[in-house]
Amino acid sequence: MSIILHAPLDMHLHLRDEKMLANIAPLSSHTFSGGLVMPNLVPPVCSREEIIAYKERILKAIGTDRFTPYMTLFFKPTYDRSFLESVKDEVTALKLYPAGITTNSEGGVSGFDIEELRPALEAMSDLEIPLCIHGETNGFVMDREAQFVPIYEKLASAFPKLKIIMEHITTKASVEALDRFKNLYATITVHHLIITLDDVAGGMLRPHLFCKPIAKRPEDKEALLKVALEGHPKVMFGSDSAPHPQHAKESCGCAAGVFTAPIALQLLAELFEKEGASVEKLQAFVSDNAQNIYGITPSSKRIVLERTPFKVPDMYHDVVPMYAGEEIAYSLKEVLYA
Ligand code: DOR
Ligand code: ZN
Repeated sequence: MSIILHAPLDMHLHLRDEKMLANIAPLSSHTFSGGLVMPNLVPPVCSREEIIAYKERILKAIGTDRFTPYMTLFFKPTYDRSFLESVKDEVTALKLYPAGITTNSEGGVSGFDIEELRPALEAMSDLEIPLCIHGETNGFVMDREAQFVPIYEKLASAFPKLKIIMEHITTKASVEALDRFKNLYATITVHHLIITLDDVAGGMLRPHLFCKPIAKRPEDKEALLKVALEGHPKVMFGSDSAPHPQHAKESCGCAAGVFTAPIALQLLAELFEKEGASVEKLQAFVSDNAQNIYGITPSSKRIVLERTPFKVPDMYHDVVPMYAGEEIAYSLKEVLYA
């Protein structure tokens, strides 16, 4: 049995830079039509020149693959209208990180004072530039995302025309916020649809499943699954595939990030099948919803997935993927450009 997905999009992706970029970008560009590329490089992508140069480096890394890097800029409250006007055509969204909340986010926002944020966010709203947010406070790790929901709501009501994307949501609280505000949207990763904190730390510690936001409780996973499986129109797939070299994961200070890019579509096919959801719902989740939300039209590409077991490699270069060495139910059969 095989299924076909049209122009899949990964609307939250870390491609990194230099050697890592060269190694891992092709693993996304092979099977996806495009991806929203996160700006948390060292230093982060903060200027028009940096976006253009980074995009060029990505295009070079993916070679002849048909893949659109949808670029993001690292949000700073100090951006003014004329700067935002000057970057508008180069970016698909801006990405807001609370300061220090995750990998390379030190230069992010500290404090969510609406008046302080108003000039930048009003300009973005007028210019129709969406805002992607890593929504976590610096509270207790299991509560960080739920504690951020009131901030999402404050922003959504203060800037009702600004499209706000709650990135990689992991909680029932975020799912519930989705339908309360017209301008709130969300991405969900594949790993948060599969694992809970038990998989990360319930037995032996599993560093390759450690990420931010950390996987939560079974009832949170169920809430995420429900909206993904029903193809909820405000929800899109964003892998948050975040490669770190093996030594940075298997160490006493484990870097946050799960690497799923090369197996994400196969895992989603298996999950949707197991849960009895149709291929049409999967298509909505992996592409159609994102096209509607962002107003993008990716280049055509058909991904044929076959229901034959695939043994996930132990490593992709120096990165250990999720399910390394294990068998998953679907494998990639063909990528068609016609
Ligand atoms: O687990 C994560 N890794 N979460 C993030 O928000 C950032 C990412 C990374 O860049 O490694
Ligand atoms: Zn991320």
